[in-house]
Amino acid sequence: MGTPATIAVIGTGYVGLTTGACLAHLGHRVVCADVDTRKIERLGRGEIPIVEEGLAEIVADAVAAGRLEFVVGSVNASERADVVFLCVPTPQGDDGSADLSYIQAAAAEIGPTLRPDAIVVNKSTVPVGSTRVVERVVQRDDVAVVSNPEFLREGTAVHDFLHPDRVVIGANDRSAAERVAELYASLDTEVILTDPASAETIKYAANGFLAMKISFVNAIAAMCEAVGADVADVVHGIGTDSRIGPAFLRPGPGWGGSCFPKDSRALVKIAQEHGYNFTMMRGVIDVNDEQRSRMVHKVVHALGGPDRHALHGATIGALGLTFKAGTDDLRDSPALAVIAELRRSGARIRAYDPTTVPPLEPHRDAMLDGIELCGSAIEAVTEADVTIVLTEWPEFTELDLAKTAEVMAGRTVVDTRNLLDPGRVAEAGLAYDGVGRR
Ligand code: NAD
Ligand code: UGA
Repeated sequence: MGTPATIAVIGTGYVGLTTGACLAHLGHRVVCADVDTRKIERLGRGEIPIVEEGLAEIVADAVAAGRLEFVVGSVNASERADVVFLCVPTPQGDDGSADLSYIQAAAAEIGPTLRPDAIVVNKSTVPVGSTRVVERVVQRDDVAVVSNPEFLREGTAVHDFLHPDRVVIGANDRSAAERVAELYASLDTEVILTDPASAETIKYAANGFLAMKISFVNAIAAMCEAVGADVADVVHGIGTDSRIGPAFLRPGPGWGGSCFPKDSRALVKIAQEHGYNFTMMRGVIDVNDEQRSRMVHKVVHALGGPDRHALHGATIGALGLTFKAGTDDLRDSPALAVIAELRRSGARIRAYDPTTVPPLEPHRDAMLDGIELCGSAIEAVTEADVTIVLTEWPEFTELDLAKTAEVMAGRTVVDTRNLLDPGRVAEAGLAYDGVGRR
């Protein structure tokens, strides 16, 4: 590895905790800071506050090696650091643009006490021009600000951080960029050095493109249903073209999570503010919104619909609540969006997700308001008029279908993730409705 550095990570969430633990794993000395006292207390006791494969092990190893610690308050970490990573939230503002207030607050807190020649690295996803904003707030001629967007996915965050497809570093100061690149020297990957505006654009362009791929395949799935084609064969047929590739072509209930929804809207907004009407990205978002309603319509149809009145008083067994499998993250979950639409029309929701077992933290509990949480998949589908699979948890592939048929009141399974084997569902005497499947 390169020379070990002393690093502060401000914001110990999905990105900050992974970044801090992985940089410590690479040999650096890292202090992770957060304003959330309870989170830091839990980490201090060796508890990992999120579900993330492999994270507990590398946190424990790095803490035991004396290379990773957790503190409350950003200054307690930043005043000792050569490099300070900002990993704070950039949620969607009221007008669709990214809210930079957390970044500005963190930069203002750390600015006065930074070491001479320290580097501030923006890892949060921020609109083009934000490196400048942070420079202005930090107000230090002897401190460089560098953009280093993060591309990890939740659920595979540790793997993605340690085996990235590339590391992107955007800086006006070449030597600061090289010092940041040095932190990643032991990773076997391409380091792309560019200017801040390009680095910030790369992040939004990557998320926008990935969201576009999923919206495209969801639109193709809708077409498959109309023309009698099978989306699995169609995806195989196009994904084998090396110019297209097979990744990110799984049809589903629409993309969600803490990033694609806010970042796609922010991309439209950034373009608009700079005089470009990004109609393609608007279409990608519209297709995604329609997809959720299409899933609701499948339930209506299963209830013998013509319209959403059929939902009134119906009991729906929902399997999965998180925005995808492998994470406990409920933020902007398509599962919750579909459930909200079902509930608005008067349906009763009984749901099971392996990561939402009570007692839940208050903010997670609030996100599940009005949903009857069950302790198992079978319990959730008991007395259901329709079962709907909303998250692709592997354990749902093991669902006892004979038992499901026995305990359900109705006869249809709507599989928004194309997770189940339609033949096995039919053998159990249930009707199956997937996404774009023949
Ligand atoms: P998060 O909400 O999980 O974590 C952010 C943390 O920052 C919270 O624990 C919060 O308490 C803390 N915080 C806020 N203000 C602070 C301050 N002034 N000082 C110290 N701590 C403070 O958010 P996240 O999912 O980790 O996302 C962070 C950023 O990374 C966002 O810009 C996001 O778009 C981007 N990003 C996220 C992912 C992802 O998969 N979650 C991937 C790539 C990029
Ligand atoms: C995504 C990107 O993949 C990361 O590269 C990026 O760093 C991150 O956003 C971010 O900026 O926060 P993440 O949100 O963790 O990562 O999850 P993804 O695996 O990308 O899935 C996003 C959504 O798309 C989920 O709802 C998922 O179910 C859906 N999806 C994904 C599909 O419907 N089909 C697919 O083929 C892939």
